[in-house]
Amino acid sequence: MNTDNAKRNAAREAVKFVKNGMIVGLGTGSTSKIAIDMIGQKLSQDFQIIGMPTSLETERQAKSLGIKLIEIDQADCIDIAIDGADEVAPDLSLIKGLGGALLREKKVEKKAKQLIIIVDEGKIVEKLGRGFLPIEININEHEETCSKIKNLGCNAELRIESSGEPFLTDNKNYIYHCLFENGIEDPHNLDKSLLSIEGVKDTGLFLNMANKIIIGNNNGFTILE
Ligand code: A5P
Repeated sequence: MNTDNAKRNAAREAVKFVKNGMIVGLGTGSTSKIAIDMIGQKLSQDFQIIGMPTSLETERQAKSLGIKLIEIDQADCIDIAIDGADEVAPDLSLIKGLGGALLREKKVEKKAKQLIIIVDEGKIVEKLGRGFLPIEININEHEETCSKIKNLGCNAELRIESSGEPFLTDNKNYIYHCLFENGIEDPHNLDKSLLSIEGVKDTGLFLNMANKIIIGNNNGFTILE
């Protein structure tokens, strides 16, 4: 599979759902970036949207394309959000956040009447937890928070930049990458347990949120909904 082609095919289909005048949640990551470029190309006198970016990186991209933007707290409800994902399970539950933007992504996407996820085929899994689950954590006493997370049965490693420094999110938190040896048995229960730990700001589990998954492949796409 040519991943770039697959991402492009998924993004192109998703952008068709964006209509003139909509408030659009703009995702983060390489697949979203393609979709945002495509939205930028569609802008004209007769086609304008208002974007709500899910990260500072996306905000910069959208601004450079001339997309009008609003802040997260400027609308309680938005028409649509388009974003990528790291893993997609058959029930449309997701793992997101390997790009480091999960907290703001979740806030924006919870406001969306429709959340469209765009991925290539490699992101589809039978059970979540094949790879890392990112968890955003308050810097203060993060090691203590980490050991409480590990008690839930996973390995957890602080995400480190190539400079050797811990990765800092847009909200100035750390990210821990958690790995469950046999995958995640009960994502809802795990999410609840993680969120009850002091210091956990949010998890990369996006449950009961996605409405449509557009799965790109070399020649086109399929839809899961
Ligand atoms: C950003 O933090 C993530 O949630 C991304 O949406 C996710 O990692 C998918 O990114 P790619 O489209 O680059 O695979």
